[in-house]
Amino acid sequence: MPLSTHPISFAAIIVAAGKGLRAGQNVPKQFAMWHGKPLLRHSVEAFAKSDATKIVVVIPHGEEDIAHKALRGIEGIQLVAGGPTRQESVRNGLEALAENAPAAVMIHDAARPCLNAAVIQRLLDTLHRAAGAIPVLPVIDSLSVDGDGLMKGSANRETLRRVQTPQAFRFAEILSAHRDWEGPANAGDDAQVLLAKGGVIAHVEGDEALKKITFAEDFMPTLPAIRTGLGYDVHRLADGEELWLCGVRLAHSKGLRGHSDADVALHAIVDALLGAIAAEDIGAHFPPSDARWSGAKSGQFAEHAARLVSDAGYSIGNIDVTIICEAPKIGPHRDEMRFSIASLLGVDTSQVSVKATTTEMLGFTGRGEGIAAQAIATVMRE
Ligand code: CTP
Ligand code: MG
Repeated sequence: MPLSTHPISFAAIIVAAGKGLRAGQNVPKQFAMWHGKPLLRHSVEAFAKSDATKIVVVIPHGEEDIAHKALRGIEGIQLVAGGPTRQESVRNGLEALAENAPAAVMIHDAARPCLNAAVIQRLLDTLHRAAGAIPVLPVIDSLSVDGDGLMKGSANRETLRRVQTPQAFRFAEILSAHRDWEGPANAGDDAQVLLAKGGVIAHVEGDEALKKITFAEDFMPTLPAIRTGLGYDVHRLADGEELWLCGVRLAHSKGLRGHSDADVALHAIVDALLGAIAAEDIGAHFPPSDARWSGAKSGQFAEHAARLVSDAGYSIGNIDVTIICEAPKIGPHRDEMRFSIASLLGVDTSQVSVKATTTEMLGFTGRGEGIAAQAIATVMRE
């Protein structure tokens, strides 16, 4: 038998009426895109999936349009205008629910997008024994009291907790505490408001994922640790041309024709590297229409691609290139080619593989009309 009697019915208030100044976005942070959707939408969707009987979203005065856009397609949300402080915004949300008062209310910052059902449940399970329940985390570091840049004392971290939202309250108690609040203009959170009225507030286990999104760097996308890219290129074999493959000049009866030196293998490698960091393709960086690249050594394209990979915060893991032709034989030049590619890209030869295949005399490569190359590149976050 569960200890709590029947599930307590609750409404949710999400406060999103701040200015979000520290986040430095071009709209208040709650409406800025974060992991594919407006920050606010994450929490609203989480509550929409929960058993909340009603969801109130407190927004800045006059921002209905942007709020509607951020919440498009989610039914039954009540928008309420906030106040100049978080405490007043919460109070406005509570007043909007007062007429049809729910048994309990969860008050949550829009700035904490990673809300999960387990925290909501832990909080609700606690309300039968306390007027309020808040998610908390331990303090890991030791503490120092600062005074003008000097340590003035310490505090016992064992008794301290970091406080998050959502915070759950019995509705009548938190409403009257907010109505009576006489503390500083901006209460740190709603638990402080209830505590000032002597309300009992229980601690439940919080979740690091509930971290508040505050600064511009919190909006930077988290890049995948490993990415791959694919490249493919073909050039025509013609008389009177030099044959360059992987930055190595080979003696052959014909050479590859192209705007640059037509090093088909390096071109495939460049496209693989650009693909791995989603940086368009070789033609976008070195357009054939640009006279600067006429007869250019493709090695500089490879060096440029390696620089872009590094600028994107990645280093090259490995390169694997396959050259498709009947002739010349690639095997005797393999090591020189691997060394050449490694030098251009600033990696070790062991990170570069060069392979070759024929197409059994079939197709344009089989007939010796051209050479094709395909490459794959793996890059790793630095
Ligand atoms: N909030 C609010 N009304 C206010 C101030 C804040 O509803 N007058 C909300 C914010 O939208 C946010 C939450 O309270 O969801 C926590 O506040 P904070 O993270 O400080 O957000 P902002 O005040 O918007 O940001 P900043 O302090 O960087 O300007
Ligand atoms: Mg603030």
